[in-house]
Amino acid sequence: MSTPDTRLPLATQHAHWSIDQIAFDRIAHERIVSEETWLYVLAAASFVESLSDLYARNLLEYMANDPEASRWLRERWEPEELQHGRALRHYVETVWPAFDWPAAFDGFCADYRPHCKPELLEPTRALEMVARCVIETGTSGLYGLLHRISPEPVLTTLVGHIRNDEVGHYKYFYHFFLRYREAERPSRWQVARVLRHRLGGVGQEDAYLALKNVVAVRNPDQTFNTQKFQRFQHMAGRWARTDYPYDMTVKMLLKPLRLPGFINHLALPLLVYQARRIVAP
Ligand SMILES: [Fe+2]
Ligand SMILES: [Fe+2]
Repeated sequence: MSTPDTRLPLATQHAHWSIDQIAFDRIAHERIVSEETWLYVLAAASFVESLSDLYARNLLEYMANDPEASRWLRERWEPEELQHGRALRHYVETVWPAFDWPAAFDGFCADYRPHCKPELLEPTRALEMVARCVIETGTSGLYGLLHRISPEPVLTTLVGHIRNDEVGHYKYFYHFFLRYREAERPSRWQVARVLRHRLGGVGQEDAYLALKNVVAVRNPDQTFNTQKFQRFQHMAGRWARTDYPYDMTVKMLLKPLRLPGFINHLALPLLVYQARRIVAP
C-alpha cells in the first residue's frame, strides 16, 4: 500500500461503509471457527474500538474551541470507531456464539477506564495530534496486517474497510497537526519525543487488558499474566514477519517530523529494518 497523501482538502473524505453492507450471513465458518487466535485478536480489537466514546469525550473537551476539529471528531471519527467495535463484535458473536462478549467487555471497561484520563493528553494540541497520528498508524498497521492474512473472505472485506478508515483518521489528525504546528511551532525534538513515548505504549496497555478479559471469559481456569501476553506477542510477531505493512507505517510515523527529503530517504530503510526487528523479533 502506498503512503497516504496527507495534503488533505477537508472536503475529501474516504468512502463511507456501513455494517449493513457486511455479509455476516455468508461467513465461511469452516475457515475460521477453529482458529482460536483469531477469536482473541478480533474480540480484543472490538473491545478497544467499542470504548471510543470515552476517548472521544476526552479529545472533544480538549479541542472544544476548534469547530472544524470538533465537528469531524463528533460526526465522523467517533461514529466510525464505534462502528468498528460493533462490526467486530458482530463478527465474533456470529462465528463464536458461545463467547460471552458483554461479560468480557464489562471486565475490560472496569480494568481500562482508570487508564484513560484527560490528563494523559499531550501538553499542546500540535503534540496531541502527533500522538493521535501514532495511534492511527498503529491501527492502520494492525488492520493492514489482518487484511493480508485473514483466512476468511467476509473478514477480509471487513478489516479492509476498517483499515481504510484508520488511514483516513490518520490523514485528518495529520491535517490538524499541520494547522496547530503553524501556531504552536513545536520543535522537531518535541515531536520526536512524543513519537518515541507513544511508540513505547502502542498496543500495550489496552491490548494487554483486552486480551486478559477475553481469556478470563473464554478460558476461566487459565490465569493471564505478562508471560502469556509475551507469548501472544511472539505469535503475533510471526504473523507480522512477512505481512506487516512496514513501509506504510514507518512513512506515516516519519511524516510529522517533516524531515528534509534526503534525510527521509536515508532514514526510511533503516527504520523499516528496525521496525521489523521490533514488531517481529
Ligand atoms: Fe478503529
Ligand atoms: Fe481510528
